[in-house]
Amino acid sequence: MKYIILSAVFSLFMLSSCCNTPKENNDMNQNETLEVLKTRRSIRAYQDSVPPMELIEKVLEAGTYAPTGKGNQSPIIVAVTDKATRDKLSQLNAAVLGGTNDPFYGAPVVLIVLADRQYPTYLYDGSLVMGNLMNAAHAVGLGSCWIHRAKEVFDSEEGKALLKEWGIEGDYEGIGNCILGYPAQANPAPKARKADYVHYVK
Ligand SMILES: Cc1cc2nc3c(=O)[nH]c(=O)nc-3n(C[C@H](O)[C@H](O)[C@H](O)COP(=O)(O)O)c2cc1C
Repeated sequence: MKYIILSAVFSLFMLSSCCNTPKENNDMNQNETLEVLKTRRSIRAYQDSVPPMELIEKVLEAGTYAPTGKGNQSPIIVAVTDKATRDKLSQLNAAVLGGTNDPFYGAPVVLIVLADRQYPTYLYDGSLVMGNLMNAAHAVGLGSCWIHRAKEVFDSEEGKALLKEWGIEGDYEGIGNCILGYPAQANPAPKARKADYVHYVK
């Protein structure tokens, strides 16, 4: 009898201490996630130091979990931490605009998202990867910004040569460059959201 009472008390204790209801867990996680989504901003000034690889890998992993059409995982991500390559990419990107200023704002890391054109949803897939990367960067305390012109860079002969050098074969289109690093500026305030952003049909 004593044994039965003890085990009943133990079971009750385990239930109450370890098991939040699914709703409680959901509310907690959602609030944190929503806060990250709302407070991420494009960062346009960076410290020189390359963040630890473990942090960059967390961001990359989040990128790989973005949804893709039919789950085909059409994008790939090239993580550039090598300074010479980063500088070369900056120079190619600037050249698309006919300039020489660093379009990467001094960020030490560039995560290039490319996607395989053979999949009809490649552009959407790659864009969602970019979104995941930028939000994940913010979640781990890093700054990021989408820098465009990856298409022009990797459609050029020099860009194609880089892909070949990196052992990347296939019909890949550059979707975006997610620059990454420790911010050297305060998080900017967001623009007010336009009044007619959301249309309700009730
Ligand atoms: C498709 C796309 C291309 C972008 N290209 C650039 C770019 O080349 N250079 C840049 O400084 N910002 C670029 N941005 C960042 C936007 O300017 C930025 O997201 C926008 O001003 C809103 O600011 P926020 O990201 O802080 O909310 C790009 C963003 C997107 C989505």
